[in-house]
Amino acid sequence: MKHLLKMSDMSKDDIMSVLNLADQLKYELKHGIPHRVLEGRTLGMIFQKSSTRTRVSFETGMYQLGGSALFLSSNDLQIGRGEPVQDTARVLSRYLNGIMIRTFAQQEVEDLARYGSIPIINGLTDYAHPCQVLADLMTIREYKGSLDDLKLCYIGDGNNMANSLIVGCLKVGMRVSVACPEGYLPAADVLESAKSYGDRFELTSDVMKAAEGADAVYTDVWASMGQEGEAAERKKVFKGYQVNSQVMSVAATDALVLHCLPAHRGEEITEDVLESHPEIFDEAENRLHAQKAVLVKLLK
Ligand code: CP
Ligand code: NVA
Repeated sequence: MKHLLKMSDMSKDDIMSVLNLADQLKYELKHGIPHRVLEGRTLGMIFQKSSTRTRVSFETGMYQLGGSALFLSSNDLQIGRGEPVQDTARVLSRYLNGIMIRTFAQQEVEDLARYGSIPIINGLTDYAHPCQVLADLMTIREYKGSLDDLKLCYIGDGNNMANSLIVGCLKVGMRVSVACPEGYLPAADVLESAKSYGDRFELTSDVMKAAEGADAVYTDVWASMGQEGEAAERKKVFKGYQVNSQVMSVAATDALVLHCLPAHRGEEITEDVLESHPEIFDEAENRLHAQKAVLVKLLK
């Protein structure tokens, strides 16, 4: 593994080895065992969109690993004024040991990896959010003991989260059922690759069918960053694509509820479901441990 650009670049072994290391780093942190294995290393963190979890967990993670992290807002970088990615990648490769980038186009992340000479980590694009999925898988395994044959149901927008969850969960041996409204489906290439998993993957517009017997029920915002102008229209389209107690009543009795956060209570998830599933905050915490594992794998 040289970069983390999207889940399809990772093998099942890559994923499991990140999850194992993440568990170990979490244990060490909780028991005060230092793991400063990235002493002297610097991670640049480019943000073209807002962030709470990604920024704080990467920055803290680098410090805990003995390295340092630089927050680089695209508003302040020349990239925000049109300096080409090819040049940015080559220049930053001379200063840093790795780059985490959150941006719009997946191509920009791929180009950084292509033209630079240091590891690139995708901290969210319109297409993918692999760091989140690693934390999600870590959380599911923590609660369920194993990932084998568990069913994850995703309800809502066929967005970056849906794309990365489909690929990641299928890869590790889970079953995935996705409920999205017509016209808001996951990316075509993701659906194409999911076909090879036969009946382990299901795409429907029927929320209750998708949730039936699910071991984990996942949702995400109806309007992602950059889609603020479509929010009103999306509220109409996605009405009904909500994780609520009715949906949870058909999932497995011990089903987890997961959400990458931030959540919009009363839209994609009800207040009562969110507040009765504290694992959502373990999931947020696990961003730290999963990403530290990625950093160790890529930057050490
Ligand atoms: N889930 C997630 O990526 O959160 P942030 O947008 O706060 O980083
Ligand atoms: N789909 C959301 C995820 C936020 C973590 C977005 O892209 O805004």
